[in-house]
Amino acid sequence: MLTTVHTVQDLRDYVGKARRSGQRISFVPTMGNLHEGHLALIDEARQLGNVVVASIFVNPMQFGENEDLDAYPRTLDADKKGLEAHGCDLLFAPSVNEVYPAGTAQETRVEVPGLSALHCGTSRPGHFTGVATVVSKLFNMVQPDIAVFGQKDFQQLAVIRKMVLDLCFPIEIIGVATSRENSGLARSSRNGYLSDAEKKQAAQIYQILEYCSTQLIQHDASLETIRQQAAQKLTALGFRIDYLNFANPVTLEMAKDGDPEIVILIAVWLGNTRLIDNMTVSLN
Ligand code: PAF
Repeated sequence: MLTTVHTVQDLRDYVGKARRSGQRISFVPTMGNLHEGHLALIDEARQLGNVVVASIFVNPMQFGENEDLDAYPRTLDADKKGLEAHGCDLLFAPSVNEVYPAGTAQETRVEVPGLSALHCGTSRPGHFTGVATVVSKLFNMVQPDIAVFGQKDFQQLAVIRKMVLDLCFPIEIIGVATSRENSGLARSSRNGYLSDAEKKQAAQIYQILEYCSTQLIQHDASLETIRQQAAQKLTALGFRIDYLNFANPVTLEMAKDGDPEIVILIAVWLGNTRLIDNMTVSLN
């Protein structure tokens, strides 16, 4: 049965008891509005730990001034049903005041240099500091053995892996493959902003990823030529490109011709909705 707690004290009481009885704690941090992608993370956490903890917290610190913090979908009752059906034991759903008692402006921040400034960091300055800060706070609150994240947020996962390494969090980080609709569209809470017609259009992002992957494997053209051709296709399909980059999957620095492994990173606007997706290609 799913237990829900809203305070750090109640969370610690529950998790502390579990830990003292030798249980392995796995943790899935989320911002709620759970879809099949999130529930696949819970399934993975269920496999890896004895006690599964999820958090639902729409983190104001990771939203920019003109972003969708207020509009971000909050669906706690439906989320609880999904968590319970997938065997989650404990939901931590704190208030903003519980997480940031001093207010977001006065809190200590966790900044992961380098990685945070690239790609999404260019158009969303401060976003990854907000993510790293809240994830480190949640890690200290829950103190899990394992934490599970989706690979759809590829850069976020890289930032968290580096943060865990740099700050010596004794937590194993697991990345789970992106969950997709049959059309190829990556599952995302922000898909809820799209009309049916826009969803069909958004599925073409996956086709562009596949196009890039095929071209990269064929080695017939330089990375820059393939990138420009793919960008033209995205624009012709009606997307406004934030970025389309080929990068090193670990450092996230721009890839060079001849690199053995490349991650294709895409962020585009479809109307007022910003969508991201990625694909890693091995070129050996
Ligand atoms: O990926 C998300 O949903 C959020 O960025 C996270 C990791 C829960 C931090 O707020």
